[in-house]
Amino acid sequence: MRILALESSCDESAVAVYDEAAGLLSHQIHSQIDLHRVYGGVVPELASRDHVRRLLPLLQTALAEAKTTPDQLDGVAYTAGPGLIGALLTGAALGRSLAYAWNVPAVAVHHLEGHLLAPLLEDDPPPFPHLALLVSGGHTMLIDVASPGRYAVLGETRDDAAGEAFDKSAKLLGLPYPGGPELAKLAAAGNARRFDFPRPMLDRAGLEFSFSGLKTAVSLAVKECVRTASLDQDTRADIAAGVQEAIVETLTAKTMRALEQTGYDALVVAGGVGANRLLRDRLSAAVARQGAKVFYPRIEFCTDNAAMIAVAGMARLKAGFHESPAIRARATWSLKDLEPLSELGS
Ligand code: KG4
Ligand code: ZN
Repeated sequence: MRILALESSCDESAVAVYDEAAGLLSHQIHSQIDLHRVYGGVVPELASRDHVRRLLPLLQTALAEAKTTPDQLDGVAYTAGPGLIGALLTGAALGRSLAYAWNVPAVAVHHLEGHLLAPLLEDDPPPFPHLALLVSGGHTMLIDVASPGRYAVLGETRDDAAGEAFDKSAKLLGLPYPGGPELAKLAAAGNARRFDFPRPMLDRAGLEFSFSGLKTAVSLAVKECVRTASLDQDTRADIAAGVQEAIVETLTAKTMRALEQTGYDALVVAGGVGANRLLRDRLSAAVARQGAKVFYPRIEFCTDNAAMIAVAGMARLKAGFHESPAIRARATWSLKDLEPLSELGS
């Protein structure tokens, strides 16, 4: 089986061709970062318009690189949600129309299922069941992954996501969008112990997260430094290091708690914040101490891409799941509402 996959849920336009036997044949991506940077964040309408411009050329390049013609395709997978509705509609309309024209099934993929299954693209894929820490710009979740398609959310954030905490703190420090990687870069030169930011919910039992208090604490620290004219480059680096430390420590502690609770010996770390070096180092060390193992997607597949949508789409297509002729796009779509693959004959 060979499929085409499209991703357009936020500010990355991406297309992949994936073959069940041969693996990933091509993946193309265009990041809109430069387009949105001057506004300090993603402008939804500009994102939609740019997807319209980028998707077809990316598709042509992907098919050419994969040496694939439409008659060799068995399906088209597209991200149907959650995400920006206009952006989602561009990929959904294209994906559904191509499937119709090529007379193959279309598969509406849940973006988070894509992130969760991304490590299956690696040479050493995770076993099932496993625990997953899903940390992106919009989500922070600990998930019990019984098998592909069977997800039980054990804990999630009550307010801001971890990526949002990185991005908002970065903005307060005057760093360009997207803030997460920029803040991590600045933190490398900083002293993480100078500012003691809150580790929200760490002292409480359970697996819930909360990051909005951290943003307030950073805002107050920055204001105080501005008031005393002490916000020099070293201080900014120290604040960045303190923020990163607080987020990473919180994520690591709760993840270890969940690993203990589930008794699993495998952890998957998925989503954009999974690209954070300090988080990877801390989790790898803590998990190894517990005799378990961490599985990461390669860095380029932590953030949004179409390869992960292809893997999730292939799993669903093989389970007999496909869409009616309607174009399906949902801005909000809980992982809890995803149809389990097992019930679809997998
Ligand atoms: O998964 P993703 O590409 O998009 C969503 O589905 O949200 O995640 C994007 C998030 C952003 O908040 C970005 O700042 C964060 O991941 N991020 C990072 C790093 N790379 C990306 N945060 C911290 N450190 C990084 N190296
Ligand atoms: Zn994402």
